Amino acid sequence: MVNPKDKETLYKKAIKEIRERLVNTSGIIPRMATVAAVLKNTLPYFFWCGFYFAEEEEMVIGPYQGTSACANIAYSGVCGAAARKQATVVVPDVHKFPGHIPCDDKSKAEIVVPVADSGGRVIAVFDVDATEVEAFDQVDKKFLEQIIPIVLEK
Ligand code: SME
Repeated sequence: MVNPKDKETLYKKAIKEIRERLVNTSGIIPRMATVAAVLKNTLPYFFWCGFYFAEEEEMVIGPYQGTSACANIAYSGVCGAAARKQATVVVPDVHKFPGHIPCDDKSKAEIVVPVADSGGRVIAVFDVDATEVEAFDQVDKKFLEQIIPIVLEK
């Protein structure tokens, strides 16, 4: 388990790299791809991370890093809960979350942060999975909620 101080240091490093890389990157897909890659390569406990777009009937995979993921998921899972509540959802143990959609059996904990446009409409979510239960806490929530809106800055 990564301690809160170390997490903070890693997130600050990731924010710096994301800012540098996105200066000349426009378009939501290139920006999402960059954010997912920097986070996956900076935070050692990120087993999988990536975006799902909030379509009308289901959620559809966007840029991601990690093992092959489900391309289309129902709104019944953790991602759907975050999109519907328009709020971050932290799941310490995915087996205790009713409706959780497994894409890789190695995933044990999850955090999902919504991506809202300027009108407050959730257009996507950012999902992170870890192989250890209780991997995510308020430090992850705080920093991911700062980082994820950066994808919509231009
Ligand atoms: N577990 C998610 C599905 C996406 S995968 O974790 C990559 C869910 O319950 O919505």
